[in-house]
Amino acid sequence: MSKIKIAILVSGQGRGSNMQAIIDACRDGRISGEVVAVIGVKPDAPAIERAAAAGVRTFILNPKDFADPADYDRELLSTLASVQADLICLAGYMRKLGRPIIDAYRNRIMNIHPALIPMFFGQGMYGHHVHEAAIERGVKVSGCTVHFVDEDYDTGPIILQTVVPVEDDDTPDTLAARVLVEEHKTYVQAIQLFAEGRLVVEGRRVRVLPR
Ligand code: GRF
Repeated sequence: MSKIKIAILVSGQGRGSNMQAIIDACRDGRISGEVVAVIGVKPDAPAIERAAAAGVRTFILNPKDFADPADYDRELLSTLASVQADLICLAGYMRKLGRPIIDAYRNRIMNIHPALIPMFFGQGMYGHHVHEAAIERGVKVSGCTVHFVDEDYDTGPIILQTVVPVEDDDTPDTLAARVLVEEHKTYVQAIQLFAEGRLVVEGRRVRVLPR
């Protein structure tokens, strides 16, 4: 099977643990792909340092350096084209992507969210806010969702979800840690399904074709 080319977008604060899981899975063959670029907003971000240490090509594009957001979109598109990305994976990337990027890569951009969408999702629901909200609401299960990215926050077609229990004595930290373990596995599985050409988007539903 030919390998897909993956570009990963990370944020300024990103730890890069999902990014690392994707890089590792490409290298040990669980994903038929290669991470051809990690694109971040600042050179000293932990995720960027981690990508460089792993020998992956990094690019720094800071939206704040562009007076016009359209110029940032153009630069991002040209970077993605220069590495011939087949799939874009958001891994802790906090911004909403511009319309030209969504249009150019429709159903070829994935994101991971640390809850079961449509619970605890949307603008402002990121990081610890998600797990605090889950515990505060008293849900008995949470989990993670890999979805394709559309014009809005966390609203695109859902590819895979994994459920974890919420324990009575959970704190946001303990719940986040339990979810994160599943994020790494679920993201890798979703990307491999894409690489195998087994994801078919029908409206808001994603059908997973059998082998
Ligand atoms: C993860 O919890 C992911 O679900 C969310 O951002 C976080 C990124 O963590 N979108 P990491 O940088 O991959 O460790």
